[in-house]
Amino acid sequence: MKDIINVYAGIFNATLDEYLLNRLDCPSPVKEAVAYAMTGSGKRLRPMLCYLGAEFSGKSCEDVYDFALAVELIHGYSLIHDDMPCMDNDTLRRGKPTVHVRFGEGVALLAGDAMLNGAYEILFEKVNSSREVLAASYIAKYAGTTGMIGGQCVDITDNNGAGYDENALLSMYSKKTSGLLIAALLSGAVSCGCTEKEEIDLLNFADYMGVAYQITDDILDCTSTEEVLGKNIGSDVKGDKKTYVSLFGLDAAKEKAKDYTKRAVNCISGYGEKSEKLIELCHYLIGRNY
Ligand code: IPE
Ligand code: IPE
Ligand code: MG
Ligand code: MG
Ligand code: MG
Repeated sequence: MKDIINVYAGIFNATLDEYLLNRLDCPSPVKEAVAYAMTGSGKRLRPMLCYLGAEFSGKSCEDVYDFALAVELIHGYSLIHDDMPCMDNDTLRRGKPTVHVRFGEGVALLAGDAMLNGAYEILFEKVNSSREVLAASYIAKYAGTTGMIGGQCVDITDNNGAGYDENALLSMYSKKTSGLLIAALLSGAVSCGCTEKEEIDLLNFADYMGVAYQITDDILDCTSTEEVLGKNIGSDVKGDKKTYVSLFGLDAAKEKAKDYTKRAVNCISGYGEKSEKLIELCHYLIGRNY
């Protein structure tokens, strides 16, 4: 699976390089901060999901280059802001000092804003058919308060509250992390013409997979090393975050990640060959060490 992930990451990186070189109109040093944030050891999971969504619908990566770019820009902005002192206060990301550490908080804030607006500029220029408009609207929805931003709101406000139960935690993960996976996969599949039934199955798949992905992220925060992960280790403990690991322990977290992976796979196991790569990816991700 690693080889396949690298192939899709290579496809994405070519689109990104072209965007940074020719399309991004932005003054220094914010432009440099955007380029800095978007490069490094990112796994490019969301672009890959967008490409696999297109392939699921019988089209190919090149049909959704701009959707993949828009979603990864939104993901990149969410990471810049997530790392800032007002949120998780982290100093290492993708194997490098975080953007605010390297460029200062003002530039980091504006770089995130530039990436968010840049993503929608790309989408408005791209959309043509009604399917593409619907796909773009899903990105806005699941990157916004229904999804990622909504989850981040809960993450920073309720996290220190006393009564944080399992369902509340999983629902927060479903927003903050599944949100962008749903945006990525659906934008690829819907713009390329999947059916309504397929759309629902893919949405549920990405939702369960995102929860498993976040639980694995929580596990790695405790068990990995900074060299391998490229992020600060122990950030959740330092920030007194309630995570699946802090509430239920490492073993229960590993079981839950497996359980959610199974649930995800069940949503799309009836599609034969066209869902094979998505299923393989989902299994691979809970065993990742980075
Ligand atoms: C980090 O996302 C934030 C989470 C939702 C856990 P990734 O683990 O996908 O980060 P990159 O893109 O590979 O750096
Ligand atoms: C996911 O949670 C962050 C976003 C949705 C941006 P974390 O705060 O755990 O992500 P990392 O560990 O900093 O990458
Ligand atoms: Mg966070
Ligand atoms: Mg964080
Ligand atoms: Mg984390």
